[in-house]
Amino acid sequence: MLKKKDKYIVAVVGATGAVGNEMVATLEERNFPVEKLRLFASERSEGKTLDFHGRPVSVEILTDKVFDGIDIALFSAGGDRSLEYAPAAAKAGCVVVDNSSAWRMDPDVPLVVPEVNAHDLAWYTKKGIIANPNCSTIQMVVVLKPIHDAAKIKRVVVTTFQSVSGTGKKAMDELLNQTKDMLNFKDIKPVVYPYQIAFNCLPHIDKFMDDGYTKEEIKMVKETRKIMGDDSIKVTATTVRVPVFRGHSESINIETEKKLSANEARAVLSTAPGVLVYDAPEKNIYPLPTIAANKDDVYVGRVREDDTIENGLNIWIAADNLRKGAALNAVQIAEELIKRV
Ligand code: A2P
Repeated sequence: MLKKKDKYIVAVVGATGAVGNEMVATLEERNFPVEKLRLFASERSEGKTLDFHGRPVSVEILTDKVFDGIDIALFSAGGDRSLEYAPAAAKAGCVVVDNSSAWRMDPDVPLVVPEVNAHDLAWYTKKGIIANPNCSTIQMVVVLKPIHDAAKIKRVVVTTFQSVSGTGKKAMDELLNQTKDMLNFKDIKPVVYPYQIAFNCLPHIDKFMDDGYTKEEIKMVKETRKIMGDDSIKVTATTVRVPVFRGHSESINIETEKKLSANEARAVLSTAPGVLVYDAPEKNIYPLPTIAANKDDVYVGRVREDDTIENGLNIWIAADNLRKGAALNAVQIAEELIKRV
């Protein structure tokens, strides 16, 4: 259980990865009260340092013995590491905020997007682990929540356009190298993805399940219900990887119980925390991954009524998957946590 302090000993597990790097930058940028920062990765990263508030911090090798004295650990080193090390960290009295999917659906682990369900942090002590949702789910629920409160959502149909940074650093390198190689008429060999990602779209994120959906699609369905605390919301998803480095976009069709006009939806969204209405199509103003990259808000635009159903809306959103979709949400969870101790 976390104790109130002026400053905390904070760890980032998987610090050398795409999300881990962003976690370190976000802790610095938001001036999180850090007494000491500890960074962990695999033996491959031994000897590396990362800068924090202008000082180099050495990367240490992760073992289950390292967590004594650490107050809060932000994990982003993959699901297997989370399964293996998060219980050891919690046992040592360290609160884990885990970015992997390993613990998200555990009934004793809160799954939190602070703008939506910060109240669920009240029971984090059951396991000492708090899960950070899937990147695409986070940006979607930040926008769904105010609409649900205003008009009660019955059904959501979402298609995602997800950047390669969601897969990690190796995937970002793969997109860069394939793009260069294709433009130089060289042969390419896909490694991270089953097909070339440069100049392509892959309707395949995470593993395929027996029913033909991918695990990523199932995550969006189940996590949305858990975060919103409402099992009646029907969600169906198609998740697509696109050759974008940073920023996920989503086309979302929403069916509500009560009628909400496009103007009413914009009004509701304009006062919602973490949301920026960016919707003036006559001036070519609509959300883009290049606009949402390196920003905190979820951008919402192309708000339209869907007249094929009684109460329907179509929207288009974009957000920085490494920030709100991962590192920022994790740091916001830690901020909420220290407010509550
Ligand atoms: P390392 O750089 O030493 O391999 P990404 O998702 O961007 O690929 O990053 C994954 C992160 O998880 C990296 O920081 C990586 O460290 C870390 N990681 C991967 N495997 C292990 C492991 N066995 N023990 C500790 N950290 C690991």
